[in-house]
Amino acid sequence: MIYAANFKMNQTRQSTREYLMKLQLHHHKRKLGDRVIVFPSITAIDNYDVDFTIGVQNAYPDIKGAFTGEIGLEQLEEFDIKTILIGHSERREILNESQEFISRKFNFFKEQGFEIIYCIGEPLNVREEGESAVLDYLISQFDGIDLDYSKLIVAYEPVWAIGTGRSASIEEITNIHNRLKERIDRPILYGGSVKPSNIADIASIPSVDGVLVGSASLKVDSFLDILLH
Ligand code: PGA
Repeated sequence: MIYAANFKMNQTRQSTREYLMKLQLHHHKRKLGDRVIVFPSITAIDNYDVDFTIGVQNAYPDIKGAFTGEIGLEQLEEFDIKTILIGHSERREILNESQEFISRKFNFFKEQGFEIIYCIGEPLNVREEGESAVLDYLISQFDGIDLDYSKLIVAYEPVWAIGTGRSASIEEITNIHNRLKERIDRPILYGGSVKPSNIADIASIPSVDGVLVGSASLKVDSFLDILLH
């Protein structure tokens, strides 16, 4: 299983350091083969002395240049960052990232050999149309994305389950993951209101290869409860 923590726009540099040091002390108790990835905010990126993966929540698809407010490859290389989150619904919806831009980003970081956690997920109105509409929608989010890329990890995150406290049901997760597995031979994470109280059930689904956790990852004890459940 892969356990990924997405801090979003939370935590300072100082609180991130304290968090990572505590995680470093305890994450070894996890099951053999389990992996941990943390996505702190960009101001908290540093060369931490930890033996799990630190990734970035976002970056611009270029080495450096005139892209005000953005972070490029050169800045990531300074901290040995080789893992990136792409396609998160908050960037698609709030920051208006188009599928065309997302696939450009994907292809740039693929060429740089990054591990890419690529997020897909349907909004509530699509879910209400039924499962085949959901699948069509998810498949459209693979436009321009190389599903055979060896460092690709997919994260299925229904938008209506993100930050709402209401996770998708075990049946809903199972059905979508099974259908995605018919097309993709890569790990598939589930995200959307994963928390200590539902991790055991979600982790027991055979087609779930890990979880991407937002709110319940913000306190290190809560993320450790998930990781060590
Ligand atoms: P959540 O967020 O755990 O707060 O629902 C998950 C995510 O957006 O990755």
